[in-house]
Amino acid sequence: MTTQAFPVRIEWMKAPPAKAATPLSAAALELATRLASSLPDRETLRHILATQQPDEIEVIRQAAEKALLKNCGDTVRLRGLIEFSNRCISDCYYCGIRRSNRALARYTLKLAEIVDTARWCGEQGYGSVVLQSGERRDAKFTRFISAAVRAIKEQTRSPELPDGVGITLCVGEQSPETYAEWFAAGAHRYLLRMETSSPELFTRLHPATQTYASRINCLKILKTLGYRVGTGVMIGLPGQTLDDLVDDLFFFRDISADMIGMGPYIPHEQAVLPYMEAGAAMPDVATRLQLALRMIAATRLLLPGINIAATTALQTLSEDGREQGLRFGANVIMPQATPLRVRRQYTLYDGKPCLDDSAGQCATCLEGRINSVGRRILRDNWGDSERR
Ligand code: 5AD
Repeated sequence: MTTQAFPVRIEWMKAPPAKAATPLSAAALELATRLASSLPDRETLRHILATQQPDEIEVIRQAAEKALLKNCGDTVRLRGLIEFSNRCISDCYYCGIRRSNRALARYTLKLAEIVDTARWCGEQGYGSVVLQSGERRDAKFTRFISAAVRAIKEQTRSPELPDGVGITLCVGEQSPETYAEWFAAGAHRYLLRMETSSPELFTRLHPATQTYASRINCLKILKTLGYRVGTGVMIGLPGQTLDDLVDDLFFFRDISADMIGMGPYIPHEQAVLPYMEAGAAMPDVATRLQLALRMIAATRLLLPGINIAATTALQTLSEDGREQGLRFGANVIMPQATPLRVRRQYTLYDGKPCLDDSAGQCATCLEGRINSVGRRILRDNWGDSERR
């Protein structure tokens, strides 16, 4: 690949965007007017990702925040994240729990522990949980998920949530029958990231057995079955261009995503992208963080009513990364609820935060962080987006 996607090292990005104390430039004023009057077109989206002008960045952030408050209100919706198994049959080249990583002890939590954790999340008022794991398709696994979903539904009923907590599954590509079985068991949301909407880039990130067509097909089946579907991409992948990212935004729209979870790409020691050895350049940390924030804002402006997560990967690149995500238009956070004893074994990328904080500590810390940016937690509610 010859495209130098991010040729400039952008130093100012290390500082938080300056408050626009000085009068706005003509370009920033024009941008503010454009963002206020219509949905962004391709050129505007590209500019949202590319601009390095602090006053324009603040205009973009404020427009995204305004669109969020108008369409979704000021609440942040929580989904307690339960990483219940790191066993995986897939071999995504970027991922720390890929099958070929032999340096990792594998675990699967017992059903009772998963259900207890979900119940704890419900008691905290989280309203929803995400069951996430590596990918498996054997019958033992698929039946285990059905049983877990049913048990969580039964055991998290409360006066506030008569149907129990909302359940999102994030367990990869499955057959239509399996997806249908889990939906019938009570899971109503599914998170399956596309990782990139570029077929070429997708191919470079995965072995030949994992195809772009199959991933798209799964997303379509999930939609047809009635799931609320979340998808998303990694941002700042080596060789990824700004145009690839703009394509990702239109992909979110065209697939009718209900939720977007995306974050910066973060290398993992045991999961080196093979094509990087051929010299593909990766944007530096500050640039990847800024790109991820701009992608959140661009998604919010293009799809104003959708749920968007401020992901853990943001916090990995900057201590206040998730708060920044909220300020740029995100409205979902997934507090870490995975039992401490196994948390280190679920390292998708290096430097994952909160490895030593108990779920209780995560809950307390999170509320302060959310309030610090003028938002409040939506408690005891599944927190779905409005159907479009
Ligand atoms: N950097 C950033 N995100 C990653 N994921 C996996 N590996 C990495 C990485 N190295 C993300 C993928 C996957 C989700 C569960 O974690 O997007 O869909």
